[in-house]
Amino acid sequence: IRVYVPCDSAALSVGADQIATTIKALAAEYQANIQLVRNGSRGLFWLEPLVEVETADGRVAYGPVQPEDITSLFECDFLSGDPQHPLYLGLTEKIPYLAKQQRLTFQRAGIIEPASIEDYTAYQGFIGLKKALAVGPQAIVDEVKQSGLRGRGGAAFPTGIKWQTVLDTPAKQKYIVCNADEGDSGSFADRLVMEADPFSLIEGMTIAGIAVGANQGYIYLRSEYPHAHQMLNKAIAVAYQHGYLGNHILGSDFSFDLEVRLGAGAYICGEETSLLESLEGKRGLVRAKPPIPAIEGLFGQPTIVNNVLSLATVPIILEKGAAYYEHFGMGRSRGTLAFQLAGNIKQGGLVELAFGISLRELLEEYGAGTLTGRPIKAVQVGGPLGAYLPEHQWDTPLDYEAFMQIDAMVGHGGIVVFDDKVDMLEQARFAMEFCVEESCGKCTPCRIGSTRGVEVIDKIRAGDNIQANTVLLTDLCDTMTHTSLCAMGGMTPYPVMSALNHFPEDFQPTNPKTG
Ligand code: NAI
Ligand code: SF4
Repeated sequence: IRVYVPCDSAALSVGADQIATTIKALAAEYQANIQLVRNGSRGLFWLEPLVEVETADGRVAYGPVQPEDITSLFECDFLSGDPQHPLYLGLTEKIPYLAKQQRLTFQRAGIIEPASIEDYTAYQGFIGLKKALAVGPQAIVDEVKQSGLRGRGGAAFPTGIKWQTVLDTPAKQKYIVCNADEGDSGSFADRLVMEADPFSLIEGMTIAGIAVGANQGYIYLRSEYPHAHQMLNKAIAVAYQHGYLGNHILGSDFSFDLEVRLGAGAYICGEETSLLESLEGKRGLVRAKPPIPAIEGLFGQPTIVNNVLSLATVPIILEKGAAYYEHFGMGRSRGTLAFQLAGNIKQGGLVELAFGISLRELLEEYGAGTLTGRPIKAVQVGGPLGAYLPEHQWDTPLDYEAFMQIDAMVGHGGIVVFDDKVDMLEQARFAMEFCVEESCGKCTPCRIGSTRGVEVIDKIRAGDNIQANTVLLTDLCDTMTHTSLCAMGGMTPYPVMSALNHFPEDFQPTNPKTG
């Protein structure tokens, strides 16, 4: 009997290893013949550790399982999927949170053993790569263009157009760089795919290499992801052993080498040009653009820099065709996005759905409200540089353009929820403080502006000439938006101004913490 206990960081953080050890020990005691599989996570984090058992009807889930539940699970005969146990959740695929999702990028997450190439190929793995080798560079780029895929790191630049630029730029050496420096607060989709389905990223990067004629790839991974690091290295070694990386991939003329490089904990190294500086062994200072990395990137050569999710989505686009992928979504936001529910939310986790769903549906139908049970006051979408949305904006469809129209951004899909106890002046201050901490220091509006921003907000909090200082804060944000060299300084005003505009009462003396 196959029993699944995830080995993903989120599951490990709530004791999955101990669950696995205890299940093994009790299986021996009960003389049960089990095969324990360490799968990735399904992304239903509030149910972790989620234990699954293979039955004739499919995989049955129990969760969240604590070590003290395991004796009763064996007593209840959970190995045959007995529904009597209080932690019984039914067939995993039918848990509403999962059943209603449209999993494309995450189609294998939690289903397979992450570094098992047999599992990966059994679930459509490497079909896209084989197709890519057969059709060649321009046809691959055309397929990606037609799919409508846009950069999932947050900027939403059309991936196919970026690839076309690299393909059209002649050079002896080109590179594929994966931005895995997932620094946004409340974001975990990159980590989840790297830990649950690392071959999808490896396959996507190899296809990108074939598309533009690059034979070297680097995954720039944040050092705070040790489990993803181990998993990627394991999967890369397996891919080399099986001829999916290295010389003459699958007997073709194409060769591709791939390695992981670790960052050192700077948020700004998620910005593509400082990432490239860091990869070259230098301090992570932002470069002025142009030239864009697609023309002069790593070591001055044409380079694709794409987020983990953009690259991990390419295999399914090649496998199923651009029309299949493009069919999901709305407007110019095609396909699906991995929304990540975090913060004060009852059912936190990953929800992959087509663009167009509203924030309210995500918060209510998937998130089930706050963990504290109090009303939601504000939701920050798109990481620490994203806007705070008040309730009257929650019906806006999650679509890049619709969010831009309300001065917000979808970004990388991180959604952080706050209840009515949050002090929005404090959140605005935090945004400026974050910018002070993480600024690379290259340009004045960001380096100096953020420090002045903290000071002005402190004056407002102290009740010092609130009206004049609010005007000053607005002016400062305007300067930062229009004159910063990169998104760090340029987007810090989003959380600050959205807090000020939508929650002005928190900036008044009536706020118990102000004045
Ligand atoms: P950008 O709009 O300057 O560029 C987007 C991408 O398109 C870049 O890779 C750029 O090189 C490329 N590009 C632009 N014109 C091109 C052309 N003509 N041909 C080929 N490629 C071209 O945005 P940027 O500064 O790269 O990213 C900002 C975004 O990053 C923000 O919107 C934010 O959402 C996101 N972000 C994500 C984080 C995360 O953890 N995922 C953390 C912080 C910010
Ligand atoms: Fe560096 Fe900030 Fe300027 Fe970006 S905006 S280049 S992080 S100082």
